[in-house]
Amino acid sequence: MRQLAPDEIPAFIRSVRVPFLDPFGAGEVDEPWVARTAARIEPDRAWVVVDDDRFVANCCIYSMNVTVPSASGEANCPTLPMGGVSAVGVHPTHRRRGHLTAMMTAMLDDCRRRGEPLAGLIASESSIYGRFGFGSATDAVTATIDKRRAVMARPPALPPLRLLEPEEALEVLPGLFDRLRRGRPGQVDMHPTRWADLVADDHPGGRDGFSRPFFAVGDDGCALYRARERGGGEGDGEELSVLYLGGSSAEVEAGLWRFLFEVDLVERVVAPFRPVDDPLRWRLADPRQLRIDALGDRLHLRVLDMAAAFERRGYRGSDRVVIEVEPPAVDCGDDDAVLGRWVLEAGPEGASCRRARPAEGPDLRLGVAALGSLYLGGHPATLLASAGLVEESTRGALGAADRLLTSRPVPATAFGF
Ligand SMILES: CC(C)(COP(=O)(O)OP(=O)(O)OC[C@H]1O[C@@H](n2cnc3c(N)ncnc32)[C@H](O)[C@@H]1OP(=O)(O)O)[C@@H](O)C(=O)NCCC(=O)NCCS
Repeated sequence: MRQLAPDEIPAFIRSVRVPFLDPFGAGEVDEPWVARTAARIEPDRAWVVVDDDRFVANCCIYSMNVTVPSASGEANCPTLPMGGVSAVGVHPTHRRRGHLTAMMTAMLDDCRRRGEPLAGLIASESSIYGRFGFGSATDAVTATIDKRRAVMARPPALPPLRLLEPEEALEVLPGLFDRLRRGRPGQVDMHPTRWADLVADDHPGGRDGFSRPFFAVGDDGCALYRARERGGGEGDGEELSVLYLGGSSAEVEAGLWRFLFEVDLVERVVAPFRPVDDPLRWRLADPRQLRIDALGDRLHLRVLDMAAAFERRGYRGSDRVVIEVEPPAVDCGDDDAVLGRWVLEAGPEGASCRRARPAEGPDLRLGVAALGSLYLGGHPATLLASAGLVEESTRGALGAADRLLTSRPVPATAFGF
């Protein structure tokens, strides 16, 4: 295993596609797509396993940041640096020989060296990364709405919107999203090339019958969506697939939903990767017109530096808990900055997280993966304890951890990476 050389980026991009069942050379790949993908790869944060001059495994880290809970719960979530683990793959000829384990250790060491308190990823399979200390930190649902019957009981105002041309969207969306994402923990930043990908819409995977995206944008929110003809038979309306819907307040978001429901010729609206606490259901006169399915994990987090991570997020409640963090199943580098016993004293004015003194016994014990699941406040300690992932050593400590750590709105991650 070694670091990638800058002139190997095109070969790296080809290699990344193989484990995802996309053989090299199959189909046309647009040069602009390759160029944008290459532009976000940081060669000193990409690794390959080479066998007989061929790349047989690959991974990389994007230097990203993620919003973390604020003390007020309002639209000012702080951001923390996060090593965004991506492009992880081992060719089918070389699997289960420990290449992922070696690459993960290299990646986490690199994050530690750079002082990133967190690493994060979106997992292809949820069973892969727990052993390395990643815990599921945000969830998402897919919302499907039969829009012909989706009447809002308390209709919100329609926000003033413009349908932007792709080039205009590219100018406006980065700044708008960067403001909107601060209203919720768990939102990762978008590299400029990601917006360019969205606008160019030339991913080699194709569009699966959907139109190019529409960019309905206002000052306080936007709805990005595509359309697809569903059947061809009489009465078969179109389906809208929502790429992103976000507003500066619940009222603006409700207005954006109403806008989508009023697009003519459409029969249903499908919105994947929505936050689990979307109040849309409560807006509908007939809530059963909204089907929620595909509840699943989204962002997985690995805490690398306990003090930095817990001192730099906000807390609405005040309390003190002593947390004992146990090692991950697979050793992946020097975890001194996270393992062991920590005293977290926190409140709306700030937090201190320091090593416990010998006399300070643990209130809660948990693995580093469960710590990642707790960190953004989306999963209560009581819930994780019910699943056997957190152990309460001092009576009442679970309740205290819930009051301290739980965040509202619930963390969510709109875009993958
Ligand atoms: C997932 C993947 C990267 C694993 O690579 P690998 O080099 O075979 O993994 P390792 O040999 O280092 O395995 C480490 C451990 O994880 C386990 N593991 C690996 N992949 C797993 C999976 N998909 N599900 C469950 N466990 C898995 C291995 O069994 C091994 O456990 P063990 O030590 O107890 O035997 C590889 O199978 C792959 O490229 N898959 C297709 C693409 C993909 O899903 N990439 C991940 C993108 S998020």
